[in-house]
Amino acid sequence: MEHATQVELARTMFSYIDKGEQARSVSPFANPVRDYICSGQAAHERDLLFREHPLILGMTADLPKPGDFFTNDFTGRPILVVRGKDGKVNAFLNVCRHRGAKLATADLAQGCARAGASFTCPYHGWAYGLDGQLLGVRDAEAFGDVDRATHGLRRLAAVERHGFIWVRPGGDTPFDPDAILGDLTSEFGAYGFERYSHYETRTLRRAMNWKLVIGTFLEGYHIKVLHRNTIAPLILGAHTTFDAYGRHGRMAVPRPGLAALRETPERDWDVLRHTAVVYALFPNTVLVWQGDHMETWRVFPGASPDESVMHASLYIPEPALTDKAKRHWDRNMKILLDTVEQEDFPLGENMQRGFHSGAQDHLLFGRNEPALAHFHRSVHKALGLPGA
Ligand code: FES
Ligand SMILES: [Fe+2]
Repeated sequence: MEHATQVELARTMFSYIDKGEQARSVSPFANPVRDYICSGQAAHERDLLFREHPLILGMTADLPKPGDFFTNDFTGRPILVVRGKDGKVNAFLNVCRHRGAKLATADLAQGCARAGASFTCPYHGWAYGLDGQLLGVRDAEAFGDVDRATHGLRRLAAVERHGFIWVRPGGDTPFDPDAILGDLTSEFGAYGFERYSHYETRTLRRAMNWKLVIGTFLEGYHIKVLHRNTIAPLILGAHTTFDAYGRHGRMAVPRPGLAALRETPERDWDVLRHTAVVYALFPNTVLVWQGDHMETWRVFPGASPDESVMHASLYIPEPALTDKAKRHWDRNMKILLDTVEQEDFPLGENMQRGFHSGAQDHLLFGRNEPALAHFHRSVHKALGLPGA
């Protein structure tokens, strides 16, 4: 984030703290309960948001060297993402062109893997280059003339920019990541996330709709109640800012230490050090800047509208090489997981069950929950639903 933007955000946060205020939307928002439980809508979301829309499947830090790869099946299509010999990120359907076996396995949660110079299919041993080219067919004479040019791995559009790796699960139609980030492009350019290191990724499955998982991060209203014994003393959730950037959103949450900046000249303000910044990157990523590192939550629908699966990851500015550094980042990972696993998600699973009770047709988002309303409006707009 550029320094000028940091200063502007700090001024807004100071004025909210002084007036006992926070960002507010113009009016409350009634969100239909069917958003979270309707299988028709879930199918629509899968097609439009998780197949056609480019998704952040990983970060530059997940693939530090040529030959590094990870796989991802959460969009409903088996995807292989690999850094080629030329340093470029390639994405393919993770499907062997002989008889369709899954070529590679490496979930981000187990750590990315090294392919060496090629992938060899575990079934009959056909080999593919890091660029997807079919390199070798065992007992080639048995197959007549297999045209190698047309029997490479099926390519998906993939782009790496500002430390993010986007893939379009549905095919190879190219896309422009700067157009996706829009006005957030220069802000992410300034963070330098492409120089970060991956610390850890966990795969979590919960009995909650994927949008309910995202919504967990999009308001500070609940902090004083649900998190009163954990993170409430660490952040001033009731003085949160909100800005919409197209379909994305950004919240800045002051930490108590921010106040000390008032005593120093603006040009010296390190606002990011004393602020948690939450980005909802449409459609399914929440990025949380935590003062000196970041967490990402990449959330996908599960088999039914009542289920989701996600990658929760921690990225850090320098590799953790010493035991002391590892203990420090392990503690951060524990805080991040404990808060959501012990407080937010059990409550979210209750809500998901409650949605089926027929108690209400709509949930109410207050004017003090603007990021939540913006996220749901953006989903509705993308799906062409009324009321967007
Ligand atoms: S399915 Fe891959 S080599 Fe046969
Ligand atoms: Fe929470």
